[in-house]
Amino acid sequence: MGPVRRLLPPGPDLSDDDLPGVYAYPPALDRPWVRVNFVSSLDGAVSVDGASAGLGTPADKAVFGVLRRLADVILVGSGTARAERYRGARTPTIGRDAPPPIAVVTGSAALETDLGLFTDTAVPTIVLTTAEAPADRRAALREAGGDVVELPDLEPATILGELERRGLRRVLCEGGPGLHGDLVAAGAVDELCLTLSPLLAAGDAGRIARSAGGHDPERMGLDQVLESDGTLLLRYRNGA
Ligand SMILES: NC(=O)c1ccc[n+]([C@@H]2O[C@H](COP(=O)([O-])OP(=O)(O)OC[C@H]3O[C@@H](n4cnc5c(N)ncnc54)[C@H](OP(=O)(O)O)[C@@H]3O)[C@@H](O)[C@H]2O)c1
Repeated sequence: MGPVRRLLPPGPDLSDDDLPGVYAYPPALDRPWVRVNFVSSLDGAVSVDGASAGLGTPADKAVFGVLRRLADVILVGSGTARAERYRGARTPTIGRDAPPPIAVVTGSAALETDLGLFTDTAVPTIVLTTAEAPADRRAALREAGGDVVELPDLEPATILGELERRGLRRVLCEGGPGLHGDLVAAGAVDELCLTLSPLLAAGDAGRIARSAGGHDPERMGLDQVLESDGTLLLRYRNGA
């Protein structure tokens, strides 16, 4: 990664070693703090050929890794876990000796058991589903090593309540647009880390949030702007 310029608040260039401090969660959280991380093209595409890899830049990859190392849990929808062939996080959370678990939200529990989430992970993947999901699928995911939790529903408040029960307050949601849309509609997003890749992608890719119903647009405060080799790393906070 080239030099990272700190545009807002203005300051000296940052090195890789500075990034964990710059992206630290608020201290002494008394509830789950939902940080969402996405990369988008300049024209709003969330994927290229169905995956986000084509949008990544060295700076985005560096921040993606740092955000994982700061999190207690990585929250993701099943569509992303499938599209991106998720496996367990590899690097321990800073200050701990294990990586954060991935928590997958799935109403259907239709996840392949050969996903790296189950076959290539240092800590059990948490599967957040409900008793409405077919019993054989829930059993198969348990058999594959998943920590399958049947919640009363998959509303954001219920999901976050389960993470709070487990003491997982530093939440990093890596999408995708469906889960993010649910979080937005519920007013549950505390922070959005948005990488703008210096690319025009066109195509028919969706954008970073999607929901069925309307939602009164919510104003976010611009908290931080970094730049590296044409990539903009934006951070917005709710209520800032
Ligand atoms: N650019 C980026 O940074 C980025 C990040 C993430 C994803 N993506 C892209 O986004 C695309 C995937 O989009 P997506 O919208 O399908 O992703 P998603 O939000 O990860 O998955 C949506 C699916 O997850 C389950 N789910 C999520 N929230 C739920 C809830 N509250 N209640 C019940 N079920 C819930 C549902 O499926 P089931 O019930 O069937 O399980 C739902 O259809 C891929 O192309 C991926 O590459 C891009």
